[in-house]
Amino acid sequence: MKDYIIKDPWQIIENQFRPEYNEISESIFSIGNGRMGQRANFEEDYSGKTMPGSYVAGVYYPDKTRVGWWKNGYPEYFAKVINATNWIGLHITVNGTILDLANVTVTRFERRLDMKAGVLHREVALTMPDGTQLAINAQRLYSVAESQSAALSYRIRVERGTANIILESGLDGDISNRDSNYDEKFWEEVSRSANEEHISLQLRTKKTGFDVHSRVTQQLLSGGQAIPVRQVVDREKYVAQHYEWVMKSGEEATLLKYVVILTSENHPRPALPDHAEELLHHIAAIGFEKLFIQQEEGWSKIWKDSDIQIEGDVAAQQAIRFNIFQLYQTYTGEDDRLNIGPKGFTGEKYGGVTYWDTEAYCLPFYMATTKPEIARNLLIYRHKHLQKAIENAEKLGFTDGAALYPMVTINGEECHNEWEITFEEIHRNGAIAFAIYNYVRYTGDERYLQEYGLEVLLAISRFWSQRVNWSEAKQKYVMLGVTGPNEYENNVNNNWYTNRIAAWCLHYTSEVIDQLASSEPEALQQILQNASFDAVEKDKWLHIADNMYYPEDLERGVYLQQDGFLDKELIAASDLPASERPLNQKWSWDRILRSCFIKQADVLQGLYFLEDQYDLDTIRRNYDFYEPMTVHESSLSPCVHAIMAAKLRKDDKAYEFYLRTSRLDLDDYNNDTEDGLHITSMAGTWMTIVEGFAGMRVRDGKVHFQPILPSQWASYSFRVTFRGADLQIKVNKVGVHIMNAGEKAVQIVLADKVYSLPAADILEVSHPTLAHM
Ligand code: BGC
Repeated sequence: MKDYIIKDPWQIIENQFRPEYNEISESIFSIGNGRMGQRANFEEDYSGKTMPGSYVAGVYYPDKTRVGWWKNGYPEYFAKVINATNWIGLHITVNGTILDLANVTVTRFERRLDMKAGVLHREVALTMPDGTQLAINAQRLYSVAESQSAALSYRIRVERGTANIILESGLDGDISNRDSNYDEKFWEEVSRSANEEHISLQLRTKKTGFDVHSRVTQQLLSGGQAIPVRQVVDREKYVAQHYEWVMKSGEEATLLKYVVILTSENHPRPALPDHAEELLHHIAAIGFEKLFIQQEEGWSKIWKDSDIQIEGDVAAQQAIRFNIFQLYQTYTGEDDRLNIGPKGFTGEKYGGVTYWDTEAYCLPFYMATTKPEIARNLLIYRHKHLQKAIENAEKLGFTDGAALYPMVTINGEECHNEWEITFEEIHRNGAIAFAIYNYVRYTGDERYLQEYGLEVLLAISRFWSQRVNWSEAKQKYVMLGVTGPNEYENNVNNNWYTNRIAAWCLHYTSEVIDQLASSEPEALQQILQNASFDAVEKDKWLHIADNMYYPEDLERGVYLQQDGFLDKELIAASDLPASERPLNQKWSWDRILRSCFIKQADVLQGLYFLEDQYDLDTIRRNYDFYEPMTVHESSLSPCVHAIMAAKLRKDDKAYEFYLRTSRLDLDDYNNDTEDGLHITSMAGTWMTIVEGFAGMRVRDGKVHFQPILPSQWASYSFRVTFRGADLQIKVNKVGVHIMNAGEKAVQIVLADKVYSLPAADILEVSHPTLAHM
């Protein structure tokens, strides 16, 4: 754990130059606008620890799979969203020496992410080896108003001495990925051009053939005068403009650099240069000052809808805003071809591809904070991949339209190549089905089922019905050789969560069929016919669902994570020496697998999803049994535990988990922030407040709240949209205040009591009435 980020409600600040943490900070200070984004690399050359990273959503490369021992069924490639043209790079020399923070004396340093305005700032004061003193002030943004553009303002001031400066500012396409499997470069050049007015570079990804056209116009100003371009540099995959000038002490110069980045996914390939030129004119005409204002306006709209305010706890306040900020930097929902990579645009790990994280963790955030179409788009993304999921299942030997969605994908095909995950971590199918249920439960959009949902549910149910087998010994259906959400166990039999989510899915699909049989019989007939569905299939599904085997310990009253779990030596994680954590960096894999330690919620994940089917005592017993053995080495773990702890009124635990999930990256809890941020778990952080502390649930078409207030906070408030109502909820020491700022009346269940809240009205309930508090 680290503690170097300065706490502030709207800013993320690092106020000292710490080269050893640079890669961590590059992740934390990342910026993006849903279409593209970038790590907070320095603009100038840097020979210290750094991982360059600029990414464009949806532009990927199928990196050939590398494994020690090939197994039939492995995917051929791992799709990764790749490092793209570096547009920020400035090559600067001062009196003949390269300006490189690793080789100068840094006397002042501040990196600051202004989350209100969506701008990254950096201020540095430094002394060059020859004694020249300089001050740098850099600001950059990825425009939310003009999502194909970004801008940089870079000011150099001479504080002492005279500086003969050479500055080369360009577009560098000679880039690679650190995680490239065969040290291959993924781009080839299509065209480049450079003159005094602009520079441009068009690259194409090898194999996938995505074109990305980057075009820059820039201006260097000093004392109100433009410094002319001295020469243009033009070589393979690199174009730049080159300036040379002299400044005396007290003088300064500012480079304003505008870039547009267009892809062949959004423009016809031959039109890319013209479209880029047109857009670049437009952006440069707006100018940096105005782009800055537009940026703040754009972000203020996002904040209006999605901000969470916490009074009395600046660490908690900063953290929740950081999580929301990074989520909206990653995914805005504007483009239904895109999804949410676990690291967004902040690093290479997980390749910017889609995991079950989207359905299990991100959907509730987007459902409640933005237009319903965006959550719908996230579901349709999987519907579009249905045929590929069927093919994926066929490769593994399943038949008749059974679908196994990939664990990792960008285009519907499986990319993950660890057998225990690719072939065994099949619970992802359950989360995709559960998301359909969750969406319809929240929005009431039943049409989704007939338009898209049922087709997906049928194919997933077919998979489960083929994946189980009847055990003569147990006289039950069993599911063998799986990996549950807890990846610190592999190839186990009867993972309780997987069996449970499979049975739930079979029941739910059958219910949807029955429901549509009465509400939309013709549409249903068509769907069933297209899927060659036979009514006996449903009977079989129900037989499986009603006769599924669940490992249990009746004495303790807990569900067992898998067969044989009790044979393990049961030790509390708190008994492990701190020097052995995190286990995945300190222990051998073999030792981890044999131990009882749990990476992330597993049984508890099931009890979280299906909590309405279990009484509080059952949830408590399971929580008390599993939580002490859980090491939370997946970022997705603390949020589920926080929500459960809040439900069980373990308020201190809930608060501890809140801090852990929300400050996971700011404080580098798992010692891995340098790889990139844990974007998908950030939506889990939002759930911690809304579902955890405020106890929001949707049951029978009504929204419920059961709020508690962590003792460390004076109040918290947030906004959710629910079926046309726009609810602004504040919980403080006095009670709960809910305003319906929407146009529709809504019924609210607050601590089990039903209230009607008309549009533009307020409901206030004091604590004594809230029995739970
Ligand atoms: C977790 C998975 C998750 C993946 C991507 C892994 O560490 O165990 O559940 O899907 O990270 O976030």
